[in-house]
Amino acid sequence: MVYITNFVAALATASIVGTAVAHPGESHSHAQVRRDIEKRDYFAAQAKRGLEACSNSIKARELDARAISRRTAKAEKLRAARGISNTKPVLARRNLTALEDFETHNHNLTSTYTAEMELFSSNGSTSCILTPEVTIGPYNIHGELIRSNITEDQDGVPVHLEFQFVDINTCEGVQDMMLDVWAANATGVYSGVDISGNAAPLNTKFLRGLQATDSDGVASFDTIFPGHYAGRAIHQHVISHYNYTILPNNTIVGGDINHIGQLFFDEALRTAVEATYPYNTNTQAVVSNDDDQWAPSQADNNYDPFPDFVYLDAEDITQGLLMWISVAIDPTANYTSEAVFAGSWNGETTIEHTNDLEGV
Ligand SMILES: *[C@@H]1O[C@H](CO)[C@@H](O)[C@H](O)[C@H]1NC(C)=O
Ligand SMILES: *[C@@H]1O[C@H](CO)[C@@H](O)[C@H](O)[C@H]1NC(C)=O
Ligand SMILES: *[C@@H]1O[C@H](CO)[C@@H](O)[C@H](O)[C@H]1NC(C)=O
Ligand SMILES: *[C@@H]1O[C@H](CO)[C@@H](O)[C@H](O)[C@H]1NC(C)=O
Ligand SMILES: *[C@@H]1O[C@H](CO)[C@@H](O)[C@H](O)[C@H]1NC(C)=O
Ligand SMILES: *[C@@H]1O[C@H](CO)[C@@H](O)[C@H](O)[C@H]1NC(C)=O
Ligand SMILES: *[C@@H]1O[C@H](CO)[C@@H](O)[C@H](O)[C@H]1NC(C)=O
Ligand SMILES: *[C@@H]1O[C@H](CO)[C@@H](O)[C@H](O)[C@H]1NC(C)=O
Repeated sequence: MVYITNFVAALATASIVGTAVAHPGESHSHAQVRRDIEKRDYFAAQAKRGLEACSNSIKARELDARAISRRTAKAEKLRAARGISNTKPVLARRNLTALEDFETHNHNLTSTYTAEMELFSSNGSTSCILTPEVTIGPYNIHGELIRSNITEDQDGVPVHLEFQFVDINTCEGVQDMMLDVWAANATGVYSGVDISGNAAPLNTKFLRGLQATDSDGVASFDTIFPGHYAGRAIHQHVISHYNYTILPNNTIVGGDINHIGQLFFDEALRTAVEATYPYNTNTQAVVSNDDDQWAPSQADNNYDPFPDFVYLDAEDITQGLLMWISVAIDPTANYTSEAVFAGSWNGETTIEHTNDLEGV
């Protein structure tokens, strides 16, 4: 029932945004948006059912306990590296009631309350593990480098972004997935793509890179908070490769793609970031989450595409954010045939082409 309601809402959204998305660069047909939202909601519902079986799992609790200590240690390390002594942790717990209404939910876990053992915890793994399966978009580039810091020379609010992928069948982390991420810079431009609406030199690769998940299903990137561009709400792309081969030049070939997703960011957070330099020099039209063609707000509580976050310095967002999201997937899924590429990186430049993975 929830699914049907949601699907009807998605149809309505798809037709409303039809004209809004007809900007250069990233446009999608109504039929495609409809198919993708339908599929996303189907997988979200499926993942939710799988996770319900995890709720009493010792493995899931252990995974959660390790996540707490890992994120706490990371926050301390990042704060120390930046010389921030103003450490005022954290915590607004998520609970299932709050989750029902994720769009208004507080993903901001920066607070003045100190309780180390509860820091970064969720109320049981299942309450925070949700699945963002969304379309790949037109700015994916194949052959980017395996590296954790993808910032390069880009100005913006520093973000340490931790992904955790959990198997809906086993409640365990999914190891050896190669996460492949990309996002627009603070003024809304993707590196390595030079088309109408996205003018970047072909010899750039900022904010793109790959990292393999560890035995807890975790991989992290040091990046910046993405900027917005016309037609889309701020988002971060992630796909994952599986059964790939690592080449000596730190790239991968082969394998399949078993997840295609986009993260969105809570409105209060985007507003706070976009008030800072250089985001505030972006002249492209802003699109809210609600008006985005992929409409995260249209989803039900099976689907929460917003990472949780803490400010490293509770009083200064420009000092950076620690963000994390747990994503439930079926690792045996195969989305390879849906992966389209704007081009491939050859070490010096993007070779433009549009095709699927076969032959790359
Ligand atoms: C955690 O979730 C359970 C329901 O699964 C609820 O009964 C409990 O009160 C919650 N605890 C907190 C501290 O939110
Ligand atoms: C769960 O969150 C809601 C909304 O923030 C709050 O009203 C409620 O008291 C919380 N429940 C528990 C058990 O913590
Ligand atoms: C990532 O690299 C940039 C330079 O490219 C650097 O300024 C920044 O400190 C690095 N971030 C971390 C967390 O090491
Ligand atoms: C974003 O990238 C474009 C293309 O490389 C560049 O012109 C622009 O200055 C970048 N924005 C920022 C804030 O650096
Ligand atoms: C996040 O929480 C901190 C501390 O409560 C607050 O100062 C900040 O304004 C909040 N930011 C957002 C985007 O809600
Ligand atoms: C990875 O390879 C194994 C064995 O070769 C195969 O069973 C599995 O389906 C593959 N997984 C994906 C996602 O391609
Ligand atoms: C995944 O899909 C691709 C493209 O359709 C296909 O070539 C490949 O064999 C599939 N992988 C598996 C493990 O079935
Ligand atoms: C890495 O090596 C492969 C195979 O030789 C080549 O096709 C690719 O362009 C190289 N990539 C980079 C970034 O050097």
